[in-house]
Amino acid sequence: MNQLVFATNNAHKLEEVRAMLPQFQIVSLSDIGCHDDIPETADTFHGNAAIKSDFITQKYGLDCFSDDSGLEVEALHGAPGIFSARYAGEPVNHTRNIEKILRELEGNPNRNARFITVIALNYKGSQYFFEGTVEGSLTTSIQGIGGFGYDPIFKPFGHEITFAEMSQEQKSKMSHRGHAVQKLLNFLNNTAI
Ligand code: IMP
Repeated sequence: MNQLVFATNNAHKLEEVRAMLPQFQIVSLSDIGCHDDIPETADTFHGNAAIKSDFITQKYGLDCFSDDSGLEVEALHGAPGIFSARYAGEPVNHTRNIEKILRELEGNPNRNARFITVIALNYKGSQYFFEGTVEGSLTTSIQGIGGFGYDPIFKPFGHEITFAEMSQEQKSKMSHRGHAVQKLLNFLNNTAI
């Protein structure tokens, strides 16, 4: 089976992506013995995804892909964006991040938001990017216990439930990461196998 490094240790993401790419053996950073804290110092999703992939390719000589994602809230002029993970400060705390957003949007009728994922793939000496987005609206309180991050307050347009109330399979069909991974999969099917 073709092996591909996914430069993450996020168990939720690994589970989501492994389910979408069953024809690949997706290995994580800890699977390849990488325990470095890779600094995400770029000011774009593309830049941060590329930093992670380049780190692995340069250090281990392996083809790999990584993703950088975030939530962009229209009424907050695109915040938290690349700062989504640490929006309420260090250490990463999803509950506090959600509380901060709900506070900032209190009484605001504009609840529009979108998730974005950018995947950077290093493959045979070249770098490729795949982008996925999903548009939706933010609820006024937490709904559901599944998923991670901002899932309990994000309702994709056309659905009455949040990502945290969906099965992982249902979420992946419409999620930002799902769309980006689908593009990655199409590329790999046409180019790599
Ligand atoms: P990352 O770059 O993919 O690790 O994402 C950064 C942050 O964006 C995460 O810590 C979450 O707060 C948020 N995020 C990214 N993807 C999702 C998702 O699918 N659901 C909920 N929150 C997400």
